[in-house]
Amino acid sequence: MEPRDIEGDLTEILIEEDEIRAKLAELSRRIEADYADKDVLLVGVLKGAVMVMADLARELQIPITMDWMAVSSYGSGTESSGVVRILKDLDTDLTGRHVLIVEDIIDSGLTLSWLMANLNSRGPESIEICALLRKPEAARVDIDVKYFGFDIPNKFVVGYGLDYNEKYRNLRSVGILAPHVYS
Ligand code: IMP
Ligand code: MG
Repeated sequence: MEPRDIEGDLTEILIEEDEIRAKLAELSRRIEADYADKDVLLVGVLKGAVMVMADLARELQIPITMDWMAVSSYGSGTESSGVVRILKDLDTDLTGRHVLIVEDIIDSGLTLSWLMANLNSRGPESIEICALLRKPEAARVDIDVKYFGFDIPNKFVVGYGLDYNEKYRNLRSVGILAPHVYS
């Protein structure tokens, strides 16, 4: 759906659909070059990364394989606590694999730093991260995001996979959610 389909629910459109497409093309060219002679396994983090994964994977002009993980971070309300539980694990053995984690957004970075440590313990050959969005707070934790799309303000955003109460994931662009929706 388009922003006009949820008129009033957004205060601002941050990133348009065509900007996302152009950015994913740019990232894809780098990923193709970096993994030219390697089999890369894309690991998507459910559910937010579904759109990024679908578009990135189709944009890539190299063979890839895909797997999915679902995690939940314990914490109060909207704050990530860093204590993470695996809801759905990978089907793939990571031993000797080149892993590229695909994420929608890095907020505190706690989820991703936990995930990096967890996947690293499974003996992969390499692990890198591709994330479409990054909030400033993320810079405070030590995560090396090799491929990232856009730095965004510290506001709650929805669309392109990102939800509020499971809604707005199918919005084609990324926008700032109006406070009246969640207050
Ligand atoms: P972190 O551990 O704080 O980096 O949490 C990251 C996760 O929180 C993301 O994968 C999203 O699922 C969720 N998240 C963080 N910020 C937002 C937002 O602005 N809108 C929707 N979901 C968000
Ligand atoms: Mg996520």
